[in-house]
Amino acid sequence: MTKYIGILTAGGDAPALNAAIRGVGKAALGHHGMHIIGFRDGFRGLMENRTAALDGGRLSGILTTGGTILGTSRDKPHKMPVGGKILDMTDAIVGNYHDNHLDCLVCLGGGGTAKNALRLKKKGLNVITLPKTIDNDVAGTDITFGFDTALNIATEAIDRLHSTAHSHHRIIVVEIMGHRAGWLALGAGIAGGADVILLPEIPYDVESVAEAIRERARGGKPFSIVAVAEGAISIQEAAALAAKDKAPAKGKAKRKAASEMDDGEADAAEILYADRTLQLAKKLELLTGLEARLTILGHLQRGGTPSAADRILATRLGTACADLIAKGTYGVMVAAKGEGTRPVKLEEVAGKVKTVPLDHALILSARRVGTNFGD
Ligand code: F6P
Repeated sequence: MTKYIGILTAGGDAPALNAAIRGVGKAALGHHGMHIIGFRDGFRGLMENRTAALDGGRLSGILTTGGTILGTSRDKPHKMPVGGKILDMTDAIVGNYHDNHLDCLVCLGGGGTAKNALRLKKKGLNVITLPKTIDNDVAGTDITFGFDTALNIATEAIDRLHSTAHSHHRIIVVEIMGHRAGWLALGAGIAGGADVILLPEIPYDVESVAEAIRERARGGKPFSIVAVAEGAISIQEAAALAAKDKAPAKGKAKRKAASEMDDGEADAAEILYADRTLQLAKKLELLTGLEARLTILGHLQRGGTPSAADRILATRLGTACADLIAKGTYGVMVAAKGEGTRPVKLEEVAGKVKTVPLDHALILSARRVGTNFGD
């Protein structure tokens, strides 16, 4: 029997989303003879039944393009802003799934999307997710697509910042995306030769960072690049957060991943990140006597042409996804595992964040070349 599959992209966009849509679509249509339909703007489009035809023609010429041809949103099925209210629209979504005679819904997204997909699975829908995010923080997969492209962009940015920092004898603090996990800052920091790398996983002591910079200046290098993940916090901030978490339930503020936040919240969080990073640059200027400048890479890291590695990964995951649907395997994320792929139950992915282990080989190796982590 011909299978009907729906596909949507949810959460923040990432390079190679179109390569993944193409991978799923071409394998589903051409190889397995299925029908495929797109939904616009994530779960909102499914709730509003706004569809996009995905025939062979629409799937051509998108492998190399940035963004998502389907559009995306951070809307969640169970908490959707509708007419000025936040409503649970799960039933409408379930209804549209059935009205479109779907056998499976493919959701391309990060940890937050896996959580939403699991909610739909619990309502009886067949769902599959693919791990997408530049943050590389999805549990259960070796890597996510979008990460490699962002890594290249952030590395090139650090390369370019080096020559200007060197010429002006300045500190340049560069803020890199990654609110819960520091994979991107760590990778780009190592590849770009940052002198200091600050990660959400390692609360930093600003005095230790300043001393590393002063030490470089004493050694004849009066310039430094500080690569900061947007979620990096000082030891004082970490202690304050820990105290808040221990406080009785009233007023207890649970830190949310940006992927779980509503749009307004995510915007506010970004302003906070930027403010915190600016304060860090000012403190370093004060403590070292060197001029400091701040560069926030922001959404530059998410845009544009995907790298070859991301195109390959997205194609690999997308085609494996179509194969799993053909076999009737649902309720899983298609994870990257070594050279291949493997289905991982959504229960093992949803609500989890893959952070950088403190003893990760990359951290050890960065320490060997003299990188300061602020600890
Ligand atoms: O989830 C990926 C990410 O790029 C985070 O690193 C960042 O905090 C967030 O998205 C910002 O997303 P937006 O501006 O789209 O809300």
